[in-house]
Amino acid sequence: MTPTPFKRLLLTGAAGGLGQVLRERLKGYAEVLRLSDIAAMAPATGAHEEIVECDLADKAAVHQLVEGVDAICHFGGVSVERPFEEILGPNICGVFHLYEAARKHGVKRIIFASSNHTIGFYQQDERIDAHALRRPDGYYGLSKCYGEDVASFYFDRYGIETVSIRIGSSFPEPQNRRMLSTWLSYDDLTQLIERGLFTPDVGHTVVYGASANRDVWWDNRDAAHLNYQPKDSSEVFRAKVEAQPAPAADDPSMVYHGGAFVAAGPFD
Ligand SMILES: NC(=O)c1ccc[n+]([C@@H]2O[C@H](COP(=O)([O-])OP(=O)(O)OC[C@H]3O[C@@H](n4cnc5c(N)ncnc54)[C@H](O)[C@@H]3O)[C@@H](O)[C@H]2O)c1
Repeated sequence: MTPTPFKRLLLTGAAGGLGQVLRERLKGYAEVLRLSDIAAMAPATGAHEEIVECDLADKAAVHQLVEGVDAICHFGGVSVERPFEEILGPNICGVFHLYEAARKHGVKRIIFASSNHTIGFYQQDERIDAHALRRPDGYYGLSKCYGEDVASFYFDRYGIETVSIRIGSSFPEPQNRRMLSTWLSYDDLTQLIERGLFTPDVGHTVVYGASANRDVWWDNRDAAHLNYQPKDSSEVFRAKVEAQPAPAADDPSMVYHGGAFVAAGPFD
């Protein structure tokens, strides 16, 4: 069955690494794609695109941004470990502003770009599912935990459905040994978003975003209703990655799901 496209789909973080990739890939899902970021974006290529510069920390601006939208892919915000004060506006206030705006303007479905850094302190010999207690590995990971809880609350209280994708490492190819496990190809990310937007009755679903890699640490049994079937695998890059010098066995990138993030900071 071909999914019915939305009238207007909002993509936040549209100037970012994934946003620029998704700008092309989400086109078919809506009559109009509203693209937003605090940073400058390439101009609209036609009537099917709208460009809105917006700071997620600005409540009034976010409310305006969300007006007239059917669904949201929320990819905007700080995407690496930073001091809490830098995370607060975009990631904590920003996600609250977005869900409040969704409530006010009747948006019913959101894809939230969550992260493996919500569970980064698990060790690589531990395999976990979505029910595992979260173990955030920094202020960034904490902000994604908050985002997931906001999603959960807005479903229980207001019926707004969210698929929170705990993205592993979504880049053209895995860049190191850890990413052989966490890599998520752009095609598999796109499939996850598609399943997240169009699967009925998702409530608040948490799904791990990894491709069909040989050694995965994450079990998606709790998200089976999404019928996510990853097509790619990091295996084709293994020889290239393993040609790099191996880090020490106790290097965080070899020990923890979250890799080097677990050792970032403190920032004072
Ligand atoms: N790429 C990955 O492997 C990966 C892994 C886990 C999670 N994620 C999440 O996916 C999303 C996209 O990741 P990315 O790799 O494209 O990151 P990115 O940093 O390239 O893009 C994030 C975008 O958010 C924008 N942004 C930052 N502060 C903002 C603000 N105050 N208001 C509005 N926009 C703001 C930035 O300008 C940037 O364009 C992020 O939420 C990130 O946390 C990505």
